[in-house]
Amino acid sequence: MSEVLKAIRERRSIRVFGEGPVAPEELDAILEAASYAPSSLNSQPCHVTALVGLVRISELNDALKRASAKPGFDRYKDYVGQNGYSINFQKAPLFLIVGVDRLKSFCPVEDGSMVMANILLAAHALGLGAVWVNQLGAAADESNFRKVLTSFGFPSTHAVIGSAAIGRRVGPNPPAPPRVTGQSNIVRG
Ligand SMILES: Cc1cc2nc3c(=O)[nH]c(=O)nc-3n(C[C@H](O)[C@H](O)[C@H](O)COP(=O)(O)O)c2cc1C
Repeated sequence: MSEVLKAIRERRSIRVFGEGPVAPEELDAILEAASYAPSSLNSQPCHVTALVGLVRISELNDALKRASAKPGFDRYKDYVGQNGYSINFQKAPLFLIVGVDRLKSFCPVEDGSMVMANILLAAHALGLGAVWVNQLGAAADESNFRKVLTSFGFPSTHAVIGSAAIGRRVGPNPPAPPRVTGQSNIVRG
């Protein structure tokens, strides 16, 4: 089986990370993979902000909790304050935020999701673990949360499509959840 197909099959969402940072060259490789994602009309409309280290990630986490508790941005309100409601994902040393230029992209969600897929696969291929974190998009236009995003260099023109916690994978790669069958059909002739 090709390396790419093997990586697609074996990539899993990893939510607990081992000690140790993601090396700068590993981050570079992930960002390069992100930049090679296909995009509608080849607009290449996506931007990735990389937060390295727990200090910055905690700042984002605190801002996210505050924003997610506010009316209008409270899609995740039932989780705020609960044990484990956190983007920290057990101390991930790297957190990537994928944004898409709302005016430049013909298909913002699709373009951003292609970048996210490349990020998750690249992390796996490098022997790292990663998980898509969904909560940021719902809070991204809350003014105080947006200020924090802007302070990290996230472009003001961009919507958040997804984000990923990334860190060192520990232990065996988890097995894939059973696949739902009957999700394709083939028409020939
Ligand atoms: C759009 C999207 C949003 C997701 N959001 C979250 C999330 O916020 N937190 C989380 O722990 N996992 C999240 N996941 C990961 C899924 O739970 C995971 O992909 C699914 O359970 C299948 O497991 P696997 O990735 O190991 O194959 C998300 C995945 C996708 C595609």
